[in-house]
Amino acid sequence: MYTSELTAAAPEKWENRPAAVVEGLGTCLPTGEFDNDTLARDLDSSDEWIRTRTGIAARRRVGPDVSTRDLACEAGANALRSAGRDTVDALILATSTPDRPVPAAAPEIAHRLGLDTVPAFDVSAVCSGFVYSVATAAGLITSGIADSVLVVAAETYSRIVDPTDRATAVIFGDGAGAVVLRRGSSREQGALLAFDLGSDGSGKHLICVPGAREQPDAERWFTMAGRKVYLRAVEQMTNSALRVMKDCAWTPESIGALVPHQANARIIQAVADRLGIPPHAAVCELARTGNTAAASIPLALADALAGGRLQAGARTVLTAFGGGLTWGSVALTWPQLTAVRSEI
Ligand code: UT7
Repeated sequence: MYTSELTAAAPEKWENRPAAVVEGLGTCLPTGEFDNDTLARDLDSSDEWIRTRTGIAARRRVGPDVSTRDLACEAGANALRSAGRDTVDALILATSTPDRPVPAAAPEIAHRLGLDTVPAFDVSAVCSGFVYSVATAAGLITSGIADSVLVVAAETYSRIVDPTDRATAVIFGDGAGAVVLRRGSSREQGALLAFDLGSDGSGKHLICVPGAREQPDAERWFTMAGRKVYLRAVEQMTNSALRVMKDCAWTPESIGALVPHQANARIIQAVADRLGIPPHAAVCELARTGNTAAASIPLALADALAGGRLQAGARTVLTAFGGGLTWGSVALTWPQLTAVRSEI
């Protein structure tokens, strides 16, 4: 049903034009790993429930001395190493778990990375933050404002989920991932070829941390209406991914890697099935990291690369859905690169 809209028309408009190109990939995970049995003991849950409903077996959590900014700095430095460069023209940080409301963290991260006085700002689009930030960076590059941009996604959901809420505590984890983008051509491997972004604020309450004025006397933990979000996530990621595939005239069988936001293995499978993507091309790498919000796509890219499931030249579709509500997709060809990964 969905794929019948795809045509085999040649995508002339992509053939040779300026484009943002992926040049480096870095990640950073906290060392602290918490398996299902450890969490389930106190939550009236079980390893079996968590695995079968989500595909998650363990997640990482930062210790008291590690901040979102620390994870972001490590992942950013690793992406620069992967790209073989020590400067960029701008830095964008995607996070919905900043260490403080003001100021944004990106300028401090740029400073800590020795990037001098480059423009640096945070993007808050929850689990779609990486895709939104990559699209923003591509806009800076193709408009001529910057030649290269470091995009970092870093999250510490362990600081905002209620540890006594089994509906969210078992799902989310901490981590960071980053890419370096540079100006290049749509003909190169690594070129970002099509984008789709969207939002629907009528669903603002479905994923939420209430503000002080909204809930003055309550503990203000993260809340998620899981089932409703599940259904919206499948629908929006499918439609959004389809739009970028259509833009590139890519058929489902030609997709080498579909890399959805890593929220739930069943959501990933449902999106791949609806799009008609071959099962081996659907990247599902959340078993040992859980849902790391904006960081989940770059972390999944690095895991897929390490496992040999992402090849240079592969037609790759990233798609995300998250609070806001927000969603978005990017179509690119995967470049030849080596990811740099570390733990703190
Ligand atoms: O990252 C941003 C986007 N986020 C997502 O895309 C997440 C989308 N949602 C989901 O992944 C799933 O909805 C969840 C994993 C959160 C929940 O799975 P579900 O299959 O939708 O379960 P449900 O919420 O419909 O709950 C089914 C039952 C309920 O019990 P009753 O009412 O049927 O008696 C829940 O109370 O499962 C219960 N439940 C649990 N049981 C054991 C919920 N969490 C747990 C748990 N352990 N951890």
